[in-house]
Amino acid sequence: MMLPLVTTCTSKQRIGEMNYGGLIESPNKKSALTIEVEEGKPMYHFSYDGKVLIAPSRLGMIFNDVDLSEGLTLDLIKTSETDTTWTQPWGEQKDIRNNYSEIKLFFTKNGSSEKMNIIFRVFDDGLGFRYEWPRQKNLQNFVITDEVTEFNMVDDHTSWWIGAYQMNRYEHLFNKSRISEIDTAHTPFTMKTDEGLHLSIHEAALTDFASMTIANNGNNSLEADLVPWKNGDKVRASAPHRSPWRTISIGETAGDLMTNYLVLNLNEPSKIKDPSWIKTGKYTGIWWDMHLGTKTWGSGEDHGATTEYTKELMDFTAKHGFYGVLVEGWNTGWDGDWAANSDIFSFTESYPDFDIEEVARYGDSLGVKLIGHHETSTGISNYEAQVDDAFDLYERVGVEAVKTGYVGDFVEGGEWHHGQFMVQHYRDIVKKAAEHKIMLNVHEPIKDTGIRRTWPNMMTREGARGQEYNAWSVDGGNPVGYTTVVPFTRGLVSPFDYTPGVFDLLLSDKPENQNNNRVHHTIAHELALYVVIYSPLQMVSDLPKNLEARPTALEWVKAVPTDWETTKVPVAEIGEFAVVVRKDRNTENWYLGGITNEKARNAELDLSFLAEGITYEATMYRDGEEANWLTNPYPLEKKTVTVDANSTLVLEMAAGGGIAIEFKAVN
Ligand code: NOJ
Repeated sequence: MMLPLVTTCTSKQRIGEMNYGGLIESPNKKSALTIEVEEGKPMYHFSYDGKVLIAPSRLGMIFNDVDLSEGLTLDLIKTSETDTTWTQPWGEQKDIRNNYSEIKLFFTKNGSSEKMNIIFRVFDDGLGFRYEWPRQKNLQNFVITDEVTEFNMVDDHTSWWIGAYQMNRYEHLFNKSRISEIDTAHTPFTMKTDEGLHLSIHEAALTDFASMTIANNGNNSLEADLVPWKNGDKVRASAPHRSPWRTISIGETAGDLMTNYLVLNLNEPSKIKDPSWIKTGKYTGIWWDMHLGTKTWGSGEDHGATTEYTKELMDFTAKHGFYGVLVEGWNTGWDGDWAANSDIFSFTESYPDFDIEEVARYGDSLGVKLIGHHETSTGISNYEAQVDDAFDLYERVGVEAVKTGYVGDFVEGGEWHHGQFMVQHYRDIVKKAAEHKIMLNVHEPIKDTGIRRTWPNMMTREGARGQEYNAWSVDGGNPVGYTTVVPFTRGLVSPFDYTPGVFDLLLSDKPENQNNNRVHHTIAHELALYVVIYSPLQMVSDLPKNLEARPTALEWVKAVPTDWETTKVPVAEIGEFAVVVRKDRNTENWYLGGITNEKARNAELDLSFLAEGITYEATMYRDGEEANWLTNPYPLEKKTVTVDANSTLVLEMAAGGGIAIEFKAVN
């Protein structure tokens, strides 16, 4: 239910000065923003609960011929307050409260008279601000050459981050270090103060701008660093235009940071009037075979995407009640070095052994959807030239969800994956997909800045090292404990197509395994990922024979939902452990996922998150006797107990282990 928008106390104040000072507090007064303009130079600082988090920091942008960070006159300020609640069509949290105090400052550059506004929104759990260039006589087309925004942190906090400007996009292990050890970093950039407060610097609503990375200027001073076009321009635009929001999210605990929805709140409401065609669900795929090396994307006797094999998988998918089957390698262009085939992929022509109409029809007869695939290998012009026909084809045969892919380091002869060129491309494809009523799962994406609020067909994405690294990475795969970092870094703005559901953890099907590739945790941990790492399209990635070989584990995967009414994180410590509980959107049932790093742990959990007055049957899928990620990852024990909101449960997790629990409401 949409609650009415309550906007009160809108006020306007004419200033007309180069000096100004103002304080604006969040609705509960816990967060406080101070703005100072001194001799035409705007600065901000920010505190939480009486403690300074961001010391005086500069604001502004530099255009190729004008510096909009100083020499500014503040003409006007407007303040307002907003308190509204909106409903996500799907997600980790159904209703989200959007409650903030806003101040908008209207500036004019002295001399040349360009106009720029800065808008701040102060939330109880953080801050967002953006720059805006209104329609104006003195500014039409412009190029931003630098962003001046600083985030002057008051201490050398512990941080979790991946470096910007590396090959392989966002697919790196997260570093843990003090701020002082950072050179450049992607956002979300996660920090923990020595007092235990959790912070994240990120951006919201990145749709037509360069993405923001973080550069370290020393002395805990971080600066926005925009990813350039290949000629060095940062942003090309014409007025009216605006930047994404720069955001600082706060969590009193790691779990609070994970359930902080400030970034989503700063995105525009949905442009899809009737989202009823958008669904969540679980999917299998002709996918893991190729990563293991047992089948190929390209043609030949090991070709995976055949009509016959797709039908087999559809039978399996229907039998277990999953939503669909992803088929990769169905279209021509995969032969040879496909990662370099950016100009020859066809997005409409099937290999002769794959009949797209037939498999889609067969799937429909079983209630299973064919999930489409477009690997572009970063051949953007080749893809854009065909994308209308490609979506037409999928729409005609009844495909509702398409996975796209952008393997490659640079795009179109030198553009970064996260510069403005690609930001625009990703946004255009999401819009086009919406016109065809197609949901997207984007691999090698631009980072998530919450545009799923505006385009709820933008379901899920990769943008970090996923399960596939376990199959072929030369370092043997994602290390034990990796999944205890992901929810608090890449996962902060959710959803992540990590592709859980590998049951054959030691990859016995892999023909050659020189790097000892494997999944570095126990099977109970793997099951818990269905709750811990949110995705509305959640993969069941292993081969059918491996999934059916472990019926208890498969039972959990069949039961766990993909759409939630609410999410809570009772206990978590970044890189150590996480316990996440989510309530199903359609029933009274709750689901728990608990994971630990290489340390075995017993956590006593009070179940007060359950509804009062309801009895639940709690079915636990937990590490069995002697389970240990390194030497004995398979023991899995299923146990059912009766509990209610006044009960406590001891969650026992082996080294590298985990626990998954279904709390089924019985009365
Ligand atoms: C990389 C993606 O992450 C993976 O899921 C996909 O199978 C390959 N590219 C081929 O498109």
